[in-house]
Amino acid sequence: MINSIGIIGAGQMGNGIAHVTALAGIDVLLLDAKPEAVEKAIVTIGKNIDRQVAKGAVTAQAKVDALARIRVAADYTALAHADLIIEAATEKEDVKRAIFKAVQPHLRDDTILATNTSSLSVTRLGAATGRADRFIGMHFFNPVPVMKLVEIIRGIATSEATYETIAELSRRLGKTTAMSEDYPGFMANRILMPMINEAVYALYEGVGTITAIDTTMKLGCNHPMGPLELADFIGLDTCLSIMQVLLDGLSDTKYRPCPLLVKYVEAGWLGRKTGRGFYDYSVTPAKPTR
Ligand SMILES: NC(=O)c1ccc[n+]([C@@H]2O[C@H](COP(=O)([O-])OP(=O)(O)OC[C@H]3O[C@@H](n4cnc5c(N)ncnc54)[C@H](O)[C@@H]3O)[C@@H](O)[C@H]2O)c1
Repeated sequence: MINSIGIIGAGQMGNGIAHVTALAGIDVLLLDAKPEAVEKAIVTIGKNIDRQVAKGAVTAQAKVDALARIRVAADYTALAHADLIIEAATEKEDVKRAIFKAVQPHLRDDTILATNTSSLSVTRLGAATGRADRFIGMHFFNPVPVMKLVEIIRGIATSEATYETIAELSRRLGKTTAMSEDYPGFMANRILMPMINEAVYALYEGVGTITAIDTTMKLGCNHPMGPLELADFIGLDTCLSIMQVLLDGLSDTKYRPCPLLVKYVEAGWLGRKTGRGFYDYSVTPAKPTR
């Protein structure tokens, strides 16, 4: 049973994971390479739980208790007693490898390591840790407190006991799980990203405008967000890097990233986080950029 979790990376995913685990009664140690990111994460968590309190989904006391369970870890030694480490740092393989290498010597032998990677090979990351049987992918979705799924990715060496522990924890967090084998993009991004990329191709080839493409998928296919709106929400750099992982890992040209997606990323138009992507967010309502 998992009672204490170390979360490495306190960005948008790390703060969401800390939020749901602390509310579920688990002790959280939060660590980031940038100390200010942890401070910002704790403020964000407080504000996000306030919204749940206002809706009556969470009591004011539960908020106080949850925030008291979140502590800042100054360095890896603070994670020595954690039952589980969830790595939610930047989506770069060298960054994640360096984190696992550095944290490993401080952990108990039975501590499980999980990565929230959206696309990198769980088997390859696990193999470099020396505890591949206790290594797993725990893929949360953004925003974590709202999205109901945890996609659990088993590396080739992940043990049944590790899988069961993580599946049980996910249920305790109120999430439904779906198990994926460890292939590029797993399930969600293997299916979602080619659709988003195809929507960018439809725009690139002039099949439809941004508004027409998003309206078609929302009203014609009952998607809650259009694919271009969703791409802006995820981040166009993230979309591009996942397409690159699919192309490299599956060696099929059907996964080639649309040149227009590449151009937006080169321009620094990364979506909501930079204020401009397929839509311009400096005006309300957001205005299509093509
Ligand atoms: N954004 C999404 O929709 C989404 C969804 C599912 C999974 N993910 C995955 O979650 C992970 C984090 O994504 P995010 O959107 O939260 O990114 P983010 O940029 O918001 O946060 C990443 C954090 O990691 C920190 N970091 C970088 N190097 C570090 C290190 N060596 N040690 C400790 N902290 C370090 C950064 O300072 C930053 O605060 C990525 O692997 C991403 O693919 C993202």
